Amino acid sequence: MPGVDLSRASPSRVYDYLIGGGYNFAVDREWAAEAIRRMPWIRAAARSNRAFLGRAVRMCAEEGVRQFLDLGSGIPTVQSVHEMARAVAPDCNVVYVDNEAVAVAHSQLTLEGADGTAIIESDMCDVDHVLGHPDTRRLLDLDQPVALLMTASLYYIPDPDLAARTVARYLDAVPSGSYLVLSHATLGQDQRDAMKLGGVLEMTKTLTSSATARTPEWISALLADLDVVEPGLVYTSFWRPGGLRVLDETPWHDSVLAAVGRKP
Ligand SMILES: C[S@@+](CC[C@H](N)C(=O)[O-])C[C@H]1O[C@@H](n2cnc3c(N)ncnc32)[C@H](O)[C@@H]1O
Repeated sequence: MPGVDLSRASPSRVYDYLIGGGYNFAVDREWAAEAIRRMPWIRAAARSNRAFLGRAVRMCAEEGVRQFLDLGSGIPTVQSVHEMARAVAPDCNVVYVDNEAVAVAHSQLTLEGADGTAIIESDMCDVDHVLGHPDTRRLLDLDQPVALLMTASLYYIPDPDLAARTVARYLDAVPSGSYLVLSHATLGQDQRDAMKLGGVLEMTKTLTSSATARTPEWISALLADLDVVEPGLVYTSFWRPGGLRVLDETPWHDSVLAAVGRKP
């Protein structure tokens, strides 16, 4: 596939493998095997993140949001966001954005024939490009509420100021009643677990993009101007779990914090 580097594992393909998807290569599976050895709960953490995304998307649709901008959308082999949203409201539009050629190419195949959806290849930090893109303008009315999805993607932006500024710029561009759905890696409170996650983060330097964990305070500051919905900023499995919690009181839930905020 043109533009796809098969000599190095990539974040979207490794994540696809961890959540049980089918679009990944030997190099990704080998990377994942070593990551699982270093941090045995990484697969549960990835699945829990994806399950949080599903619950948050459904909540936004139940609150009346019909437009979704999925920033760092990944490879949609395990239920796409438009399928999650349309399970609540069939008229939802979704624009996907990813900077990895393989995620974009695979999304294009998956989205063929799915009206009201599009995938844009872009760095999500290029806010003008994403918001000014013809597909965004065609599918999203920025005068109406939009759910901005930034799950497990912001931590691939190494510069913390750029990451925070990017979130702020998207929030500025959408009206009151819009939502930010956020999840982000954090080192947590248990030092041994933090060291294990640290070992995996070190490994991400060999991926096509490397990842950074950030403190709960830094993550929380992204939500400062929003009305954060219950239960606030919590580990993914504790965000409105219903009957869906993957595992119980195990250390893996100390790896990814999640929240949903509504723009007042
Ligand atoms: C771990 S996956 C998360 C996928 C999905 N958001 C989810 O939570 O299930 C992270 C995705 O973010 C994408 N990504 C990383 N940095 C990005 C950037 N600067 N702009 C756009 N996409 C990015 C990666 O290519 C990857 O597909």
